[in-house]
Formats: sequence, structure tokens, C-alpha cells
Amino acid sequence: MTQVAPASASTKSIGEVLLKIEDVSLSFGAVHALSEVGFEVRDREILAIIGPNGAGKTTMLNVLSGWYGPDQGGIVFKGVRRRRLRPHEAATLGIARTFQNVALFKRMTTLDNIMTGRHLKMRTNFLDHALYWGRAEREEIAHRETVERIIDFLEIEAIRKVPVGRLPYGLQKRVELARALAAEPTLLLLDEPMAGMNSEEKEDMCRYILDVNDEFGTTMALIEHDMGVVMDISDRVVVLDYGRKIADGPPDRVRADPAVIAAYLGVAHADA
Ligand SMILES: Nc1ncnc2c1ncn2[C@@H]1O[C@H](COP(=O)(O)OP(=O)(O)OP(=O)(O)O)[C@@H](O)[C@H]1O
Ligand SMILES: [Mg+2]
Repeated sequence: MTQVAPASASTKSIGEVLLKIEDVSLSFGAVHALSEVGFEVRDREILAIIGPNGAGKTTMLNVLSGWYGPDQGGIVFKGVRRRRLRPHEAATLGIARTFQNVALFKRMTTLDNIMTGRHLKMRTNFLDHALYWGRAEREEIAHRETVERIIDFLEIEAIRKVPVGRLPYGLQKRVELARALAAEPTLLLLDEPMAGMNSEEKEDMCRYILDVNDEFGTTMALIEHDMGVVMDISDRVVVLDYGRKIADGPPDRVRADPAVIAAYLGVAHADA
């Protein structure tokens, strides 16, 4: 089991509600991937979304990042209610994500992949470059500085010029985190950031997640299967099972919840 200092050991203060999911339902044909799911994410919180395979976790993240529109329900982000967010809108509002399977440009270097995470922040275009060279250059320097800070923070200096396809999987996951951070998100969605990692790599990733939360104040919703990791780093846990929310609360309470234990053991559901 991964051992890191628990999130509760820090002195951080959890803030106002940043994101509210209101009774979201989404079906794919006959599959009810999400059924009336509702929960909140508070400013600076690390929320873990857990549940057995096929529970609807990735679908939930896809709704939050605007990839899917719900059939019913809505999303309140920073106080504004919307039926659905478009991906570009979600990104502009400050929501960034990583993917369950690493989605990087494999032939591009670490640095160039991270720079792609900044494109929304880059206001100057070709014409600006031609007409206002000085402004464009100042912006470029500012972008580089942000990216350099992230590279430094995640300790990936040594691989900045390496095409990411040549990196071990654990490092690719870290580059993906770096790219998401390059957008300077308010809310960061991480889909199994530690999948396929050995325990040492998991420990490192836990530390980076906690440090990002602490240093940048980034609110996080992450999907994770390793219960040790979930217990160690999350402030609160939401449990999905067959598209329904079956528990929501502090890690210790959720772990002891009979409905959660039943879901993980695959025995009959409480409402079956
Ligand atoms: N684009 C899609 N088209 C059809 N069915 C889908 C689609 N995406 C998800 N599903 C189905 O919705 C359900 C929930 O899938 P989802 O990927 O959200 O689960 P998950 O909790 O992330 O599982 P895992 O732990 O395996 O990643 C599954 O039955 C899945 O097959
Ligand atoms: Mg998934």
C-alpha cells in the first residue's frame, strides 16, 4: 500500500462549493452509465471518485470536461448553471483533465507536449506577431516561465527534449499531468493518474498531486482504484456503482460503509 502523509495532516482550508453536479443521468443505448448522480466539489478539495469497473467514473469525468452532454441534470460551475459544458467552454472556464489512457503526442518532446496545454492562454496570433512583435515576445516569455515552473515542480528537466513515446509509462503520466497544469486550471480532473505504476511511482505521483494542490491551490477530482492511495490523499470520496452514487463522505467513513463494501465484493446491492 502506498504510504504518504494524509491530506488531513495538512492545514489547508477547504472553501466554497466550486462545482455542483445536479442529478446527472446519461445512457448509452440500454446502458445507464449515470443515473441521477449528484455531488459537490469544494474549492481546494481533493475529491476521489471510486467504484468498480464500468461504474460510470470516466463517463462522469467526460461530462465534467464537456465531452459528453448529460441526458438530464446539469452542472453548476463557479455559480453558473449549465445543462452541458462544451469542451472548449470547460477549458476556458478553467477545467483541465488527463486521460485514463495516456493521450500525448508521442513523437513530440516533453516540452512541446506541455506547451500544447497552454494554447488557450496564448492570445497572440500570427497577425499580432507581425504587428506587435514586442507584445508577442513578452507573452512567449511568460508562457515559457510558467512551463519552466511546472517542469521544475514535477522534476522532469532531464526529459524535456525527449520524445514522450520513448519514456516509461510512469513518466508519460507525469508529463500528462504537466500538460494539464500548463493550462493553470482551477479544477483538475485526473482519470486514474496512477494506473499501471509500481508502488514507488505511485508514491511519487501522490506527492506531486498533494504538492500541486497545496502550492497552486488546484481543486482536484480524481478517479483511482488503489484504496490505499484514496485513503491517503483524498479529502472526500464519492462512490459510484452501476451508474448510481452509493456513498459520499470522508475516506474513513466511506471505507466502512456496508454498501461500498458490498459493491466491491460484488455481492447483492442494498437496493436490489
Ligand atoms: N462512448 C460509450 N458508448 C457506449 N457505452 C459506453 C461509452 N462510454 C462508456 N460506456 C459504458 O458506460 C458504462 C460506464 O463506463 P465508464 O467508462 O464510465 O466506467 P468506469 O467506471 O470508468 O470503468 P473503469 O474502472 O473500467 O474505467 C460501461 O458500461 C461502459 O461500457
Ligand atoms: Mg474509467
